[in-house]
Amino acid sequence: MKIVLIGTGFVGVVSAAVYASFGHEVVGLDIDERKVASLKKSTVPFFEPNLESLLKEQQSSGNLTFTTDYEDAITGADVVMIAVGTPSAEDGTADLRYVLAAARSAAPFLKDSSILAVKSTVPPGTLQEVKAEVDAVRSEHGASGSYFLASLPEFLREGSAVHDTLHPDRVVIGADDQFVFKTLTDLHKPLQAPIVKVSPESAQMAKYAANAYLATRITFINQIADLCKKNRADVDEVVQAIGLDARIGDHYWYPGFGYGGSCFPKDVKELAAYSRSIGEGDNLFNKVNDLNEERIERVMDQFSKTVGGWAGKKVAVLGLSFKPNTDDMREAPSLKVIPYLIQNGASVTGYDPKALDVVPQFLTEEILGDPSKLALSTTIEEACAQADVILALIEWSQIVSFEYGKVRDTSKDQWFIDARNQFDKATLQKLGYSYTGIGKS
Ligand code: UGA
Repeated sequence: MKIVLIGTGFVGVVSAAVYASFGHEVVGLDIDERKVASLKKSTVPFFEPNLESLLKEQQSSGNLTFTTDYEDAITGADVVMIAVGTPSAEDGTADLRYVLAAARSAAPFLKDSSILAVKSTVPPGTLQEVKAEVDAVRSEHGASGSYFLASLPEFLREGSAVHDTLHPDRVVIGADDQFVFKTLTDLHKPLQAPIVKVSPESAQMAKYAANAYLATRITFINQIADLCKKNRADVDEVVQAIGLDARIGDHYWYPGFGYGGSCFPKDVKELAAYSRSIGEGDNLFNKVNDLNEERIERVMDQFSKTVGGWAGKKVAVLGLSFKPNTDDMREAPSLKVIPYLIQNGASVTGYDPKALDVVPQFLTEEILGDPSKLALSTTIEEACAQADVILALIEWSQIVSFEYGKVRDTSKDQWFIDARNQFDKATLQKLGYSYTGIGKS
């Protein structure tokens, strides 16, 4: 089968490499020439574990190529997948301009009986918009033959994208035609995952529902953590107790500074905006979004009381990406935490195992106010030297496994803030740190 992935972000590149590993002829297509030039050399423009080796393997086998040429890529393709970004517009709705542009560019070259599948996260009703645009372009070009549409939402996580794509919990195929279900089922057979065949609208809603549920779950446990903080309960003990209820489970329950990344914040906002657009605006999703957006300031205000104010403090912020195993800084807690600290009179030394190169693009002078108050360190030792407060923001293994006795400065009181409840309180206290975590005293 010839498969084309339009868009070479996380979803596009990882999916392309995985389909190529099944023995198909796969083309990754992008209008960004620099990205394509780099991918042609098997250089991934972002950090994602195991991706580069998979790319190299599939490119040298000849199954996987990259191009910027729509005609070359789409001609003869059996399945064309759109995996471009859908940023939120100002009002929170999904901005479909890149999806529609990709569909229009592919339209003239779609062969008879090919499948055009949308992998990007889009609201119900999008396939009708795609169809209108594709049909208009095809009739302009006098293109013959018919094509099929499908919705093929993606559930991979950054940081474990290759593993998630090779071992998905399920594959969701949204279509209205048996030929599409059969072709896409056959394509995904090697994954040995349950295949859910539904309408395109159900597939699109399933993607929003999954992300909104997980975001709500995180928001819920963060709210419980805030109550625990006030009443001597420990949220980790609460999770242990509720997690044994099979209806609840003990996974994906760790509290923190709120959810970040390129997906949850955007998708919750989009679902809220979509709800408003169909007259169902008074619902949970707006509230979840508001609570998450306010969270960092609330938590930092609380910690300010704990550590006796931020003014004049030297703070080591460990973990700058939005989560471990990625250099993605989109909606990372550090982007709010560091400006907050600087605006409240602290000086900050930031450490991250992978994101240091991209940090300056995000933490600009405009955002920081006084950039001289932020230094970046390539080692935890350097970042923590003489710190008044160590704020372990993201649970990178390098940060969690570090021996903090090495950086304990016995000449002063030092606070250790465990923003992800990853550390053993007693061990840190024994080293002489004053410890505080989320949802525990
Ligand atoms: C998320 C979903 O997990 C994927 O299934 C989905 O495909 C993807 O969005 C997407 O829509 O593309 P991702 O954003 O990579 O994946 O990251 P997660 O590991 O789910 O974490 C999201 C955020 O929630 C992070 O800020 C993380 O720190 C936070 N989180 C996660 C918590 O605060 N507590 C938890 O228990 C789990």
